[in-house]
Amino acid sequence: MNMTPKETVAYLDEYVIGQREAKKTIALALRTRYRRMQLDQELQNEIIPKNILMIGSTGVGKTEIARRLAKMMGAPFIKVEASKYTEVGFVGRDVESMVRDLVMTSISIVKKEQQEGNKADIEKWVLNKIIEKLLPPLPTSVSDEQQEAYANSRERMKSKILSGDMDDKIIEIDIPKVKVEFSDSNLPPEMLKVQESLANMFSATNKDEVKKEITVKEAFKILEVEASEKLLDMNAIKNEALKRAEQGGIIFLDEIDKIAVGAKNDGRSDPSKEGVQRDLLPIVEGSTVNTKHGPVNTDHILFIAAGAFHVSKPSDLIPELQGRFPLRVELESLTEEALYKIMTQTKNSLLMQYSELLKVEGMELEFEDDAIKALAKLSYTANERTEDIGARRLHTVLEKVIEDISFDADEHSGEKVIVTKELVHEKLDEVVEDDDLARYIL
Ligand SMILES: Nc1ncnc2c1ncn2[C@@H]1O[C@H](COP(=O)(O)OP(=O)(O)OP(=O)(O)O)[C@@H](O)[C@H]1O
Ligand SMILES: [Mg+2]
Repeated sequence: MNMTPKETVAYLDEYVIGQREAKKTIALALRTRYRRMQLDQELQNEIIPKNILMIGSTGVGKTEIARRLAKMMGAPFIKVEASKYTEVGFVGRDVESMVRDLVMTSISIVKKEQQEGNKADIEKWVLNKIIEKLLPPLPTSVSDEQQEAYANSRERMKSKILSGDMDDKIIEIDIPKVKVEFSDSNLPPEMLKVQESLANMFSATNKDEVKKEITVKEAFKILEVEASEKLLDMNAIKNEALKRAEQGGIIFLDEIDKIAVGAKNDGRSDPSKEGVQRDLLPIVEGSTVNTKHGPVNTDHILFIAAGAFHVSKPSDLIPELQGRFPLRVELESLTEEALYKIMTQTKNSLLMQYSELLKVEGMELEFEDDAIKALAKLSYTANERTEDIGARRLHTVLEKVIEDISFDADEHSGEKVIVTKELVHEKLDEVVEDDDLARYIL
């Protein structure tokens, strides 16, 4: 991950309109991690990441930024909802499990890299396995002639398999029994180990492999998994993954406002929410979390928290936690222009999604520019007059306009339907004008 801040922002710009401050702050934080990694070890240890808190009302792109970052990052990155956790000692997910999830993500990244790197070996292994099934090996005591003939047919078989000719042929292979995967990171590692050994005890009585008849094509996929386990050094992968989670891991803590306890709560503070905040402190500050694959130190994990803070305020978080998110960025409410751009300039915009969906019915859907402007204006008005739900308003408003067209799509097969300004006004004016109606329908 060595994109410059400008490149990161440019990438995010393709999907998220506006919100420059937030994009810049995040891009810079990512770059700082890269810069840090280039320093000598001693200094590296001194430089602790500055966690970020993003504040912005609902539907303005907080989660969207996280989603896009996740796709872009080569580093281990996970997005979790703070509201999903419960205090240690209560039934539910404890906050340490987020670090375990991060390690899982890290492992799958490293594993994938290794698989890519050893692709040729893995493919060769799989191919050999399949050829063996189709062409049983010769006994050792055969003449040279026979050996040569065998080698020839082996080659022929190989090219047949590679060209896909044998794809549908059924072969019998030994498939390792599906082990119940204990990836539930909610359990502390000690418990996981107990669970696993119990499961092993029970399954030991059965055979570990089952014979199964499948097509050659399917066999490729299944054997690839087996090949990676055989050929890749899982221990090295684990160690590298742990290191990357520690040094480059990022945890995006969404909905953090949901665990804040409003001061106006008549002095009735919610113990479990506060408990989650308190449990978060050591993790955010830096502590060691045990995982199935080894201990992880969280000192250098970057935390980005986000919340709408409609009901509560950042100052409603316990002070210790507030202090651990020194960088604050605010996301702007969406203007009419921003809404217009979200419909027209984002990479997989809503309008495009609708057209593509209707294309399946053989119908071409087009939006007049004036119609899009009207949609933006009406969405903005609806946001102003009722609740400001940001870009989510576009979904409800568009749905209302397209509803009938979409329902009758079969009648319009082979046609081109144009959404005009008039149509938009016809469908929406009445609804937007009437506050009560708007509240229910949009
Ligand atoms: N600035 C933006 N640019 C492009 N799309 C946006 C923008 N803001 C919101 N959207 C779209 O609106 C929808 C909701 O956005 P998102 O999930 O990011 O909201 P949020 O800020 O996380 O709100 P909440 O606080 O309710 O979780 C998504 O489909 C997203 O694509
Ligand atoms: Mg969100």
